Amino acid sequence: MESKLTISKKFKISEVDPRIYGSFIEHMGRAVYEGIYQPDHPSANEQGFRQDVIELVKELNSPLIRYPGGNFLSGYNWEDGVGPKEQRPKRLDLAWRSLETNEVGMHEFAQWIELVDSEINMAVNLGTRGIDEARNLVEYCNFEGGTYWSEQRKKNGQEKPFGIKTWCLGNEMDGPWQIGHKTADEYGRLAEEAGKAMKLVDESIELVLCGSSNSHMPTFGEWELTVLDHAYEQIDYLSLHQYYGNPEDDLEHYLARSLDMDEFIQGVIAICDSIKAKKHSKKQINLSFDEWNIWYHSNEHDEQVKPWQVAPPLLEDHYNFEDALLLGCLLITLLKHSDRVKIACLAQLVNVIAPIMTETDGVAWRQTIFYPFMQVSNYGRGTVLTPIIEAPTYKTSDFEAVPYLETIAVLNEEQNEVILFAVNRGKEDMTFTIETTDFAMKKIIEFTEMAGFDIKDTNTANQETIKPKQSMRYELNEEKLSVKLAPLSWNMIRCE
Ligand code: AHR
Repeated sequence: MESKLTISKKFKISEVDPRIYGSFIEHMGRAVYEGIYQPDHPSANEQGFRQDVIELVKELNSPLIRYPGGNFLSGYNWEDGVGPKEQRPKRLDLAWRSLETNEVGMHEFAQWIELVDSEINMAVNLGTRGIDEARNLVEYCNFEGGTYWSEQRKKNGQEKPFGIKTWCLGNEMDGPWQIGHKTADEYGRLAEEAGKAMKLVDESIELVLCGSSNSHMPTFGEWELTVLDHAYEQIDYLSLHQYYGNPEDDLEHYLARSLDMDEFIQGVIAICDSIKAKKHSKKQINLSFDEWNIWYHSNEHDEQVKPWQVAPPLLEDHYNFEDALLLGCLLITLLKHSDRVKIACLAQLVNVIAPIMTETDGVAWRQTIFYPFMQVSNYGRGTVLTPIIEAPTYKTSDFEAVPYLETIAVLNEEQNEVILFAVNRGKEDMTFTIETTDFAMKKIIEFTEMAGFDIKDTNTANQETIKPKQSMRYELNEEKLSVKLAPLSWNMIRCE
């Protein structure tokens, strides 16, 4: 099979906002307790954080981590998580029918965020709570001092403000499962007023408005139009959430799910811009795809989990090789929309639908999906070049033409590199030719592939076999690079 990519330094989609390599830690399952925090683990540091997890999170180089939920958020009192630990209340977490000890809260999470060199994407509860708690939290986190909440922060050990820049106005408020679920009008007005008060406390913050919980919600479209109509001038981003799965065990259909993500993004951009036009506004709303991943392997298991436990194993999907291929396609899709998608959070980061897993009495380890995320997050920095792609296609039940090749090129001018990411969705070897119209590629710095595994193979705590390895299957002359993409493969090619 033959395919071709033509790129030019003159034709650019956009600078990549590194926040598209964001991630997510929710108080649920074993994400916080037994995930990032486990004081009795041999690798725990003096604050109780697992050093082995910190090391793996740093490999992912994720610059923004959403916190503290998720569905958990909509029943959470942030005040429960500050102050002396021994006085913090144990609460029912109604979203996940678990027990929340509140041993980890705002201060602890901020300490951990520093250890992993990231930033917090904070969320305020607009389910059971409202404007007052939201503006108090901004004051607690971001106000210099001399007021009630900023002084409480200091009393609790944090002299300098946390300085949190990005704030989510609630979580999935369109979902009937959400605690404090609202109609679009109810949520739109609340978000507008909460956002207004929050920005009055700190005008430098940026706000994310809840879009639909997924593109198949019956209210998708109408929800976005209504909430944007209310809150357009207060907010900066609209959120999208989407999870994919392969319960039908149909590989061709599964690997085409990134086209679904592409359509979803295009639809939401169109909606944002229609409200912009309607309002005669000069302001552009960008997108925060703040929950995306694969989630289906653990569904049956989770139905059996006993309620009211601390840190029960929930949503512990074990990812296989085909999941890594789809994850690569989804990352490429986000890059193709880097002009409008400025924030994205892989949901989630540790144990809960996560690239990183922990054994309670053992090691932390990397799932298959860890690797494409790590490579794109570390090397997909710079400017995305407009891809002109020629590739054969196949048909699925919902897409007429799914290209066998999914690819994108990123130009990193600082490092003087062009980085190509590519998935071969097909079961045959593919000759992939890259032509540049106005620059020459002189050298291949690195060509790695994830290929040759059984599509259902997974990594385990003892064996991380599904990972990238070097490939030498390329030819380079001044204008043209030709590489062989193995059947069903994820590839990264870095050129000088
Ligand atoms: O990430 C798991 C859950 O998925 C989140 O809590 C919720 O926002 C979404 O439905």
